[in-house]
Amino acid sequence: MNILVTGGTGFIGSHTIVELQQAGHTAVAYDNLCNSSTVVLDRIEGITGKPVEFVEGDIRDQEKLTKTLKDFDIDCVIHFAGLKAVGESVHKPIEYYDNNVGGTVKLLAAMRDAGVNSIIFSSSATVYGEPTKLPLTEDMPKGQATNPYGRTKGIIEDILSDTQFAYPQMNVVLLRYFNPIGAHPSGTMGEDPTGIPNNLMPYVTQVAIGKLKELGVFGNDYDTPDGTCIRDYIHVMDLASGHVAALKALKPEGGLSIYNLGTGRGTSVLELVNAFMKATGVNVPYSIKPRREGDVVACYADCSKAKEELGWEAKYGIEQMCADSWNWQQKNPNGYRDQA
Ligand code: NAD
Ligand code: WQD
Repeated sequence: MNILVTGGTGFIGSHTIVELQQAGHTAVAYDNLCNSSTVVLDRIEGITGKPVEFVEGDIRDQEKLTKTLKDFDIDCVIHFAGLKAVGESVHKPIEYYDNNVGGTVKLLAAMRDAGVNSIIFSSSATVYGEPTKLPLTEDMPKGQATNPYGRTKGIIEDILSDTQFAYPQMNVVLLRYFNPIGAHPSGTMGEDPTGIPNNLMPYVTQVAIGKLKELGVFGNDYDTPDGTCIRDYIHVMDLASGHVAALKALKPEGGLSIYNLGTGRGTSVLELVNAFMKATGVNVPYSIKPRREGDVVACYADCSKAKEELGWEAKYGIEQMCADSWNWQQKNPNGYRDQA
């Protein structure tokens, strides 16, 4: 199939393009490069041996999107493009709603105009809010997201669902990612945050390499076995293969499907830090800090629906995720910047 990958030069999009190409699909990356670099396109080609078509563009540019969908005879869109910094979204709600929600509306209009009926969307476990029951299943009602970024995901899910209802021939797949970490095993591709990382794993790898002094563990007085929060970390390569599985399961008659993409296993902050030290042999100094506002205590997925309907399940464990994140960090201490 011909796939338009919005946000294709970003962290998850680029790893997904590797999996798409290796499964025989043609991927066209569409990105405005606001949080990524074209260096990744060479890295993808270095792994797969196939060049990646790239269109520099914004998802809010409906005309350019429509033209791109037609020019490349696109069968399905995988929609990663969006802003994703939780803290920033609190201070820049207009930018987040404009980019994520407004951009998705333009994308849907372009798809309608170009006659493209299938879309796979990067949603997030954040739409569940504070879990009332664990593990989380897709049929649980969505909860209260704690920040504008999270609310954009819930709103976009509703927009996609309303659109599928109005155009029943459309195929809409909502993939709710848990906590993506890890990197391509080659160490040539990985997560490249700008500035001081907000997320746990990039913070850990930057402490390990000496760019940051120590990790702050946000709270050790939660109601969990070691007092730190629990998350369902998933290897980015597993996440990437989940998209290929979702493509295979698109229904010719149209429909709306929702899948959790996680491992089903919860890991606490301290367990992750210890797994990292075990997998890499590198010490990660840390100290306990106050709780971070908006954090849920525990969040992990029931992934049986994806297994039954997509034939997909995560295969990498936490130590492999740590080893691959570290491999990427070591080989690229400044991310893609040195090679730009
Ligand atoms: P990322 O920032 O690495 O990738 C997003 C890409 O979208 C970037 O390359 C950026 O330049 C591009 N982009 C942003 N706005 C754009 C616009 N208006 N037009 C064109 N391109 C634009 O982030 P990621 O971690 O790869 O996340 C991909 C998607 O998955 C996002 O939608 C994110 O919200 C979602 N998601 C991420 C996580 C996570 O923890 N990484 C978890 C759940 C969901
Ligand atoms: C994980 C755990 C922190 C940093 C976020 C978004 C979510 C989704 C994934 C996109 C928490 C603790 C972290 C640090 C720490 N993104 N931590 N010290 O918050 O589960 O999810 O990314 O959709 O929407 O909210 O991930 O990696 O930030 O935190 O102790 O320096 O690590 O408190 O318990 P989170 P995270």
